[in-house]
Amino acid sequence: MPVTPATSTAISRAAAHLRAGRLVAFPTETVYGLGADASRGLAVAGIFAAKGRPSFNPLIVHVADVEAARGLGVFTPLAEKLAAAFWPGPLTLVVARAENCPVAELATCGLATIALRVPAHPVAQALLRAAGVPVAAPSANRSGHVSATAAEHVEADLGHAVAMILDGGPTQVGLESTVVDATGAVPVLLRAGAVTAEQIGSVCGVAPVRPFEGGVHPVSPGQLLTHYAPRAAVRLGAARAQPGEGLLAFGPLPPVVDGPVLNLSATGDLIEAAANLFAHLRTLDSTGVASIAVMPIPETGLGEAINDRLARAARR
Ligand code: TXA
Ligand code: MG
Repeated sequence: MPVTPATSTAISRAAAHLRAGRLVAFPTETVYGLGADASRGLAVAGIFAAKGRPSFNPLIVHVADVEAARGLGVFTPLAEKLAAAFWPGPLTLVVARAENCPVAELATCGLATIALRVPAHPVAQALLRAAGVPVAAPSANRSGHVSATAAEHVEADLGHAVAMILDGGPTQVGLESTVVDATGAVPVLLRAGAVTAEQIGSVCGVAPVRPFEGGVHPVSPGQLLTHYAPRAAVRLGAARAQPGEGLLAFGPLPPVVDGPVLNLSATGDLIEAAANLFAHLRTLDSTGVASIAVMPIPETGLGEAINDRLARAARR
């Protein structure tokens, strides 16, 4: 039975699970989160595998306080203002990734931005402090199901996939955090939530705009329209690289390989492949090749999400 009352002993054990790369579900004031050490790509891939997401979405990275958040993202004056007013609390800030941000590329789906939140729930706070690592956590439900607001909901959906579910009782807010892009001078409301647009407007002295409003931001909530896209062209289903191409391999390499090659997983492990996807694309892109040839990836498990992202990169 992974559901455990959130005593201080249980929180210490949960923190150890997180540091060891395992998944832990925990309460926040909004909904329960399905957490993993955000700096470990494999652990983050485990979140997507557990949720059964049909495609990768960037995750919110949770930390205990604003100091920890400043180590991960670039805080604009707007972000500082919002953090001072609403953290800890049900607000998520999207800011530029810090230069030495240790968060795995998969957690941010290769984007140059990162979504950060300091939750107020005492169990979440205690867990984040005990773990001492940034924790990537989407809502703890299977994809397509409603967000979990009680430990029993988490167990029904994800009990098989987690090392532990910290039971902190039903969540108070029951609605996800508000997501605000604070990379510029004007707040952009990416997802409505517990903190209202009016509250944000009164703190910032300027009302938040919605994505697309006034052409300010080509970003949409939940399903971002701006995806990480390599500069190089992407050629899918390749048996081998052609001259001038880089190779993004999966499984055993073709007999002849020249030019840059990176393997998503030499053993054909889809979780490992997911963990490597964005970082490998970025590295191959940075070699300056005109095109990246991608070997076929099975459409099972996380393969579906990997292929979805690769197809978007190829379509562009
Ligand atoms: O209340 C909550 O926010 C809960 C608890 C567990 O903290 N978490 C949650 O996570 O709802 P999730 O993964 O279900 O939603 C994350 C939202 C999505 O709408 C996603 O598109 C957005 O945050 N997001 C994450 N990173 C982003 C980024 N770099 N830019 C824009 N939006 C981002
Ligand atoms: Mg969700």
